[in-house]
Amino acid sequence: MATIKEVARLAGVSVSTVSRVINESGYVEKKTKQKVLSVMRDLRFTPSSVARGLVSGKTSTIGLLIPDVSNPFFAEVARGSEDAAIEAGFTVFLCNTDWKLEREEMYLQVLKNKSVEGIVFLGNRSDESTLLKSVGDIPCVFVDRRLSKQRNYIWVDHEYGARLATEKLISIGCKRIVHISGPENSNSAKLRERGFTKTVKEHGLDNWQVVQGDFSFAGGYDAAKILLSGDNPPDGVFAGNDMMAFGFIRAANELGIRIPDEVSIIGYDDIEMAKCVSPALTTIRQPAYQMGRTAFLSLKDFASSDVVEFQPELILRNSTKA
Ligand code: RIB
Repeated sequence: MATIKEVARLAGVSVSTVSRVINESGYVEKKTKQKVLSVMRDLRFTPSSVARGLVSGKTSTIGLLIPDVSNPFFAEVARGSEDAAIEAGFTVFLCNTDWKLEREEMYLQVLKNKSVEGIVFLGNRSDESTLLKSVGDIPCVFVDRRLSKQRNYIWVDHEYGARLATEKLISIGCKRIVHISGPENSNSAKLRERGFTKTVKEHGLDNWQVVQGDFSFAGGYDAAKILLSGDNPPDGVFAGNDMMAFGFIRAANELGIRIPDEVSIIGYDDIEMAKCVSPALTTIRQPAYQMGRTAFLSLKDFASSDVVEFQPELILRNSTKA
């Protein structure tokens, strides 16, 4: 594949002249410009945005690191960032990290090599100092995690969100309440668990428990099969996200357990599908699309410090008793 250097050599000009022609910036004599364009045509040279940025230092690209695009919550965040990026003339490299540290590290390296101008980072790596070290000095906005010394992050108060869900279950008379948590290495999962635990304790409930989940449909399904076939089945469940709530509903249906008559369930995220399942899912809403948009916009300004906090909201549907 032809390179910008080859174009420069064959046109008998410097790389920066070729770059000026590509970027249509700065003065280039008409004759020289025509020569460069004709060499580019002969070599079938299409400048990538990265090549364009070699001299200008700008690639108009950003990296978007998310754990898993097959989870609609992350897909919505990604969509929000991408739409805002396109509007601003940027393009996006989408990277799925699969909640794995090695993949995060690998992608951060790749994005640096591609000279992205910034990164929107969604991950739940608990160790803040290694995370900041890996990101280095590329402008980065963190979504769904709060950092102690950090500059840019977009945040939802998950402890409060968990409180809203738990108080709802208590208010409708649930006495045996279970929280299915997210993965152990997840920052937001920890905060939701803390919000749940604090609330049940404050209300003096003694029949409650937390079971380990993983934010997946299968995780919610497996937890439900165990909980609902046990001696002390819950009458109220707060799932750490909607995908696990969907798994729970499927298992309850298979076991012939009626929702919400026998057990009420509340999810977290309010992804589009929450309205479509049966019964429609009561959940805690976080504005995924808006979070993604805001992330790109604060990244674009490259402000050294910018924190945006959204409030979670209880969305009542039919999976909880009236
Ligand atoms: O559904 C995925 C979950 O993981 C979301 O609730 C989000 O907050 C993340 O941490």
